[in-house]
Amino acid sequence: MSVDLSTQYLGLELKNPLVVSACSLGGKLDNLLRFEDAGAAAVVLPSLFEEQIEHDEMAIHNFYEFTSEKYPEALSFFPELGDYNTGAESYLRLVEEAKASLRIPVIGSLNGTSVGGWTDYARRIEGAGADALELNIYYVVTDPEMTATDVEERYLDLVHAVRESISIPLAVKIGAAFSALPNMARKFANAGADGLVLFNRFLQPDIDLESLRVHPHLVLSTSEELRLPLRWIAILRPQLEISLAATTGVHTAADVAKLLLAGADATMIASALYKHGPGHLTTLLDGLTAWLTEKEYESVDQMRGSLSQINAPDPDAFERANYIKTLIHFGDFGATT
Ligand SMILES: Cc1cc2nc3c(=O)[nH]c(=O)nc-3n(C[C@H](O)[C@H](O)[C@H](O)COP(=O)(O)O)c2cc1C
Repeated sequence: MSVDLSTQYLGLELKNPLVVSACSLGGKLDNLLRFEDAGAAAVVLPSLFEEQIEHDEMAIHNFYEFTSEKYPEALSFFPELGDYNTGAESYLRLVEEAKASLRIPVIGSLNGTSVGGWTDYARRIEGAGADALELNIYYVVTDPEMTATDVEERYLDLVHAVRESISIPLAVKIGAAFSALPNMARKFANAGADGLVLFNRFLQPDIDLESLRVHPHLVLSTSEELRLPLRWIAILRPQLEISLAATTGVHTAADVAKLLLAGADATMIASALYKHGPGHLTTLLDGLTAWLTEKEYESVDQMRGSLSQINAPDPDAFERANYIKTLIHFGDFGATT
């Protein structure tokens, strides 16, 4: 019996639920082709960062100011501003090349925190041919004057602004740190998000005891980290009509199956690709097909969400229930699982 792995994400038809998550591997066309060959159903390109665009535009502005005052003749050696080869320009070329070379959907990614001129790039990414846009809002709030409402408004303003700039589907990638995530998720949907990507994995800084300096430290994820998106996808699935994609901790076929049971429409993979290479996508697809066959599911559609909070035999397990029972299990030395 053949198993139908197809799924719908952001209104796009995907041949299976495996999507390459935004990461630097996707910045090379050769890698993108290898992901497609290995079975990826879609790719999210690495992000174009707000800082990257602002930096480029500031650099161009300073250059023009400086040269036109001091060396007006120098301007004739340089192309028009619009043709300037910025980081943003090469990003748009990547979108175009990916679209020209791949058959699977190509999702562009913008990463920022504020409404500004850079949201125009949403339109330009659409113009370059992207099938959808993922907006990663990566915002670490340190100002004690800023309230939760201020922060939430900032997120929603950004989603509104980007939504108004484009007509392709829009996914919003967020962290889990909201006081009332279900309400916020609904507001994202009302602001025009066609899907949520749960969850951003923020870089955590570390302290180097030799140099006594703080440095950002990237550690690849493990399957243990799957539990956070798993819980929230299960809770949010019955509440939302929009697409839900899981990111963080997807390493094995079992991880993919769990997220689909919780209600994910797509599962995104980054760390596992750094660890194992593009061929890992084939391993995941084979493993997922074997699991579905063993459990006698005919399709991903059939099993999706069957253990979401509304369908699970023990829905309380996604909440606070079992908390004390679980802690009691860890009541003595030697308890490890
Ligand atoms: C090296 C690296 C680069 C990444 N770059 C981006 C990026 O440009 N934009 C983005 O939204 N997420 C980025 N991410 C986050 C991933 O898309 C993903 O959400 C995160 O790593 C969790 O998934 P994982 O457990 O499969 O790694 C990056 C992750 C890694 C490891």
